[in-house]
Amino acid sequence: MYNIAVIPGDGIGEEVVKATTTVLDKLDVEFNYTHAIAGDKCKEETGVPLPDETIQIAKESDAVLFGAAGETAADVIVRLRHELSTFVNLRPVKSLQPEKYGNIDFMIVRENTEDLYIGDEEETPEGAIARKKITKAASDKICEYAFKYAKDTGRKKVTAVHKANVLKISDGLFKKCFYETAEKYPEIESNDFYVDATAMYLITNPLDFEVIVTSNLYGDILSDEGAGLVGGLGMIPSANIGDENGLFEPVHGSAPDIAGQGIANPVATILSACMMLDYLGESESARRIEDIIVEVIQEGKIVTPDLGGTASTQEMAEYIASKI
Ligand code: NAI
Ligand code: MG
Repeated sequence: MYNIAVIPGDGIGEEVVKATTTVLDKLDVEFNYTHAIAGDKCKEETGVPLPDETIQIAKESDAVLFGAAGETAADVIVRLRHELSTFVNLRPVKSLQPEKYGNIDFMIVRENTEDLYIGDEEETPEGAIARKKITKAASDKICEYAFKYAKDTGRKKVTAVHKANVLKISDGLFKKCFYETAEKYPEIESNDFYVDATAMYLITNPLDFEVIVTSNLYGDILSDEGAGLVGGLGMIPSANIGDENGLFEPVHGSAPDIAGQGIANPVATILSACMMLDYLGESESARRIEDIIVEVIQEGKIVTPDLGGTASTQEMAEYIASKI
């Protein structure tokens, strides 16, 4: 039995998390869910976006399943990643419809603890300043993770993404750490690109990528671009992993434009739960659900509007669950 902290959050977060537990409940694995609140609605109701109790529940759980926060995202998900010391954010960009999107299949290994993304900013007399912190320790750790991940999963190449031509000191350090780590993995090819060029190569040559390792903000941006390559944000899961905690969430946000309509694609969150199952050592169940998702999308009968169907979030989830 696993203790899972469930934090649905705002907007479609609630819808896709409910859909995901509907699927998990059909497995022969027992989960004890503890629901916890966070996000915009939580702030309205309690005065804070991320109550201490929620942090405590997340820390005490075996894993956290998270939906999405709205405008309070920085105070919720960025803080949770910090509180749980999840130093890596794994974002697989994999096409489940090869006939439509080709055989795109790469992993973004995003540094999760520093860079501009931690939001260390302040007002100044002239305007504002945001600090971009890059440390050797975090850069070594994430590059090591990326190469080890490549080795363990049979990938042949790791690509570092940065902007070291302009950010010579900070991104320059990241690049240096990358090539130092690469020396320990001579069997794995290593190369690097600037982030702007990468934004283009992902569209022109997506099959050239196997593992991308990058800093926090570039990883955030490139993972949404990656989603766009394989059917949209409804398709891309993620795993935040640390030495003691794992938090699993779709890459997307609360999607206020479709929230409340019951039409959000639940696949990103269900696949995030598959990453959670892998983390918990329940890989057989993870592969089972992934296979069913591919089958359901290929059938194309009971899928949400973004996948060309008319099914609701919950109908699609129940259909997936019925096949377990
Ligand atoms: P978003 O990811 O919520 O939505 C971007 C677009 O993708 C929208 O058109 C939306 O309808 C579509 N989309 C997203 N998920 C979908 C799904 N499962 N099925 C079908 N379509 C889907 O990003 P946006 O609009 O920039 O931000 C909305 C709110 O979410 C903001 O308040 C933002 O702060 C928050 N946010 C929270 C995140 C988190 O909690 N981790 C991450 C990103 C944004
Ligand atoms: Mg993002």
